[in-house]
Amino acid sequence: MIKILVTGSLGQLGRCIQDITDQYPDFEYKFVDVDELDICNKEQVQLFFDNYKPDFCINTAAYTAVDKAEEDSRKAFDVNANGAKNLAESCLMHNTVLIHISTDFVFDGTKTIPYNETDLPNPISVYGASKLQGERYIEAILQKHIIIRTSWLYSPFGSNFVKTMLRLAETKSVLNVINDQIGTPTNAYDLAGGIMQVIVKHVQLEKNSEAIQFYGTYHFSNEGACSWYDFAKKIFDINKINIDLRPIPTSGYPTPAKRPMYSVLDKTKFKRTFDFSINNWDKLTFKSKN
Ligand SMILES: NC(=O)c1ccc[n+]([C@@H]2O[C@H](COP(=O)([O-])OP(=O)(O)OC[C@H]3O[C@@H](n4cnc5c(N)ncnc54)[C@H](OP(=O)(O)O)[C@@H]3O)[C@@H](O)[C@H]2O)c1
Repeated sequence: MIKILVTGSLGQLGRCIQDITDQYPDFEYKFVDVDELDICNKEQVQLFFDNYKPDFCINTAAYTAVDKAEEDSRKAFDVNANGAKNLAESCLMHNTVLIHISTDFVFDGTKTIPYNETDLPNPISVYGASKLQGERYIEAILQKHIIIRTSWLYSPFGSNFVKTMLRLAETKSVLNVINDQIGTPTNAYDLAGGIMQVIVKHVQLEKNSEAIQFYGTYHFSNEGACSWYDFAKKIFDINKINIDLRPIPTSGYPTPAKRPMYSVLDKTKFKRTFDFSINNWDKLTFKSKN
């Protein structure tokens, strides 16, 4: 049976993948988080791969605290760059395909039309730089890789913008939200489905040795574009929450890390290659699970 290892499995994306595995019963899964497999620990990663010998490794493990990374760059680079490198090296040893998740924050946000995979990254934050370094290590070490850049991830799990908005609405009657940063929310369940489609397609084509055409970098978010303000408005509309929502510029909400002003991703390559259609961002389905 084909074996799939998922790292960082207690995070948003890891938990969504775990939640949909019953739709893909032909695979065997191992879900591990830092307590069982610390991707920064090279020896531990090697030993784990020696024992489990996965066919696919989905790396959802990451240091995702974007603002904290500005003052903790060593840790951000350790997880997001060296961790990715350790996985790539072990994947190479075991002929494992690495599906690695990256971010829209590798871009500087100066474009005004959607970013495609050939656009030059130019991160403006430590987090973005650490994720880009992770991508570079993987590309240099391992041919059998699929890097998927995503954006504005939300789910019923962990912390994310949707949960923050709903929590704030419990105690506040007025909320200021940025309306000049444009991007696309991504339902982590949609991304989880996209990742599983990558594996299904890979398995189909591997039989004819054609999977080689898949390797490389892809973009995946939901379709469409909006500001954080539009996103918040949608969240409150859907949940029938009455709140005085006010649009503000980025300058009105200073943060330690700079964010791209525009980070809409062009998904054409992913949709075409993997024969996958993607929901629009405003098909917001959300149930809180903690
Ligand atoms: N969240 C977003 O808006 C967003 C946007 C674009 C791209 N992405 C990317 O999408 C991927 C999934 O994001 P997410 O939101 O699901 O992340 P998340 O909820 O923060 O989950 C990451 C998981 O990785 C674990 N982890 C941290 N260090 C580790 C280590 N050394 N070894 C193993 N596991 C470790 C974390 O554990 P602890 O919680 O204990 O640290 C956590 O369980 C990441 O690659 C992220 O960079 C996220």
